[in-house]
Amino acid sequence: MTDSSMALAVEQVCVALGGRRVLRDVSFCLEAGEFCGLIGSNGSGKTTLLRAILGFVRLEAGRIRLAEQSTGTGLIGYVPQKIALDPGLPLRARDVVALGLDGARLGPALPSRARTARVDEMLQAVGALEFAEQRVGLLSGGQQQRVLVAHALVRRPRLLLLDEPLANLDVRSTAEIVALLRRLSREYGAAVLLSAHDMNPLLPAMDRVVYLANGSAVAGRADEVVRTEVLSSLYGYHVDVVRVHGRVVVVAAEASEQIHAAVAHNPEHTTAVP
Ligand SMILES: Nc1ncnc2c1ncn2[C@@H]1O[C@H](COP(=O)(O)OP(=O)(O)O)[C@@H](O)[C@H]1O
Ligand SMILES: [Mg+2]
Repeated sequence: MTDSSMALAVEQVCVALGGRRVLRDVSFCLEAGEFCGLIGSNGSGKTTLLRAILGFVRLEAGRIRLAEQSTGTGLIGYVPQKIALDPGLPLRARDVVALGLDGARLGPALPSRARTARVDEMLQAVGALEFAEQRVGLLSGGQQQRVLVAHALVRRPRLLLLDEPLANLDVRSTAEIVALLRRLSREYGAAVLLSAHDMNPLLPAMDRVVYLANGSAVAGRADEVVRTEVLSSLYGYHVDVVRVHGRVVVVAAEASEQIHAAVAHNPEHTTAVP
């Protein structure tokens, strides 16, 4: 990778919280314009890794490098996990996007005409123009997620981090947000790192996956990483990567035996696997 295309390099990062090792030897790189899933179950360390990239968490070992433009201006876009937007919040969708533009900036803001143009361009890019004047707390989950993406992208970061942005979305909104982020990563040349506990909605879109289990990671293309032998080695015990009804499911050996028994007994049961 040339240095000019590098958006993020995570190198043998270790993090301890409350005296416990939460990330160990995590390494991967992202290039500009790449769309990457950060996959792992609850407690695997996804939020900690994103916060470490943002510089909110002290590294016990290793280092994290960002593209030069990002470090120079502090330009990382971030959509945190579980933002609750109160229905009474007196902010329109467009106000939230505008806050992303200069809410954290010290010094003079952009002139107001340029500001409005940039906010309109972002609202258009995420498909939020039609509800731009509505109170953000009254929008649907999918609409709010579009507004938060616009908020995070409006300063044109080289790196966009999103923590479980798909968690509370229905199937249709999930697919729309994934397609939107994939398109924006290309258009804006931003590397997108998106955490999720279910990789399935991301499989058609991901250039790369970082799979976390118990604080350790394996990274690569999905077809390289999501394999029985690779994930068994990561977990430290045998898991099966099972493909059922067009979905990929990772199951521990004991659960796997139950599934095979259930499939043999009644194939419909496979749809119940999380
Ligand atoms: N401030 C903290 N102090 C101690 N342990 C923490 C702290 N924050 C998170 N943890 C622990 O670190 C692990 C990873 O948490 P987290 O990064 O939130 O995982 P995820 O986002 O994948 O659910 C969990 O076991 C969690 O309990
Ligand atoms: Mg989390």
